[in-house]
Amino acid sequence: MNRLTALDVHLTPADAERALREDARAGLTATPKELPPKYFYDARGSELFEEITALPEYYPTRTERALLAESVGAIAEASGADTVVELGSGSSAKTRLLLDAFRAHSTLRRYVPQDVSEAALRGALEALGAEYPDLELHGVVGDFTKDLRFLPKRGRRMIAFLGGTIGNLRPAERAAFLAHVREVLEPGEQLLLGTGLVIDEPTLVAAYDDAQGVTAEFNRNVLHVLNRELGADFVPEDFAHVALWDAENEWIEMRLRAERAMRVRIPELDLEIDFAAGEELRTEISAKFQPVSVRSMLREAGFDLVRWWADADRRFALSLATAV
Ligand code: SAH
Ligand code: AVI
Repeated sequence: MNRLTALDVHLTPADAERALREDARAGLTATPKELPPKYFYDARGSELFEEITALPEYYPTRTERALLAESVGAIAEASGADTVVELGSGSSAKTRLLLDAFRAHSTLRRYVPQDVSEAALRGALEALGAEYPDLELHGVVGDFTKDLRFLPKRGRRMIAFLGGTIGNLRPAERAAFLAHVREVLEPGEQLLLGTGLVIDEPTLVAAYDDAQGVTAEFNRNVLHVLNRELGADFVPEDFAHVALWDAENEWIEMRLRAERAMRVRIPELDLEIDFAAGEELRTEISAKFQPVSVRSMLREAGFDLVRWWADADRRFALSLATAV
């Protein structure tokens, strides 16, 4: 890392291990069984996500990238931020568009990526350090649903939350998360939010059930994580990938369906879990939004929507909002 790069670890391996134990015990003993999506993202899961972003069926990343390309100049001009904070930054691939635009407006001093995946963050910081040698880079390993208070308070900030990752939070978590984001910002600072929009079911389902099976592997990766971290004996190949559209809740739900009855041992939790044949473990929701619901969730959290960009097919939207 160069002299302008720092990495704060607010989620140590021991904290992460404790959280995984608690979440796995609670989720696997619940009915229906469930695991939080943040556990997809070990080094392999983060790589698989990057592969997903290049799939022909997975339109969100390329749609958001095109929206960013179109809007970053106006965003930089309207914002005037000297510090771009990004939550769930992953590889920071699309963020380069933002960084370049803020630099062109001569306001940018620092970039603060935050992610639960230390591997993804380290990889991003290394590449960004080489590409932007004069930019202050301050990575934060943390959970964006818990650790926002650790984000640096210096500078005039814009928080970016891209990719539609807000849709991976359940409605109550989402409201709490946005309220928390609002709390850590000063009035006048901004939030740039990417949201998937409600579109036709076949396009949505294909995006989460690609022909090459990359999303299926990403989904099963959570079982590899449990095997490695908790000594569990899941046989991932015995679980089928399921992606369905829940029209009532307006979200895609990913599940893993046990292909046979089985008992799974999890020695680190001193737990044995039975699956009936056909039983499903819920692994992720990916909520899609109506334009009006984006505006109202922002307003309820204490933000004013300043500008909005959507693609011609209205598949994805970017919202620039100001903390009031
Ligand atoms: N923003 C990037 C990456 C999206 S993938 C993009 O738009 O392409 C989702 C990212 O959020 C992953 O890098 C994952 O590690 C991270 N993530 C998921 N849950 C998280 C949590 N609770 N706290 C912090 N990061 C999280
Ligand atoms: C990170 N997140 C916005 C992705 C999504 O589309 O919900 C995760 C993902 N799950 C399956 N494919 C991609």
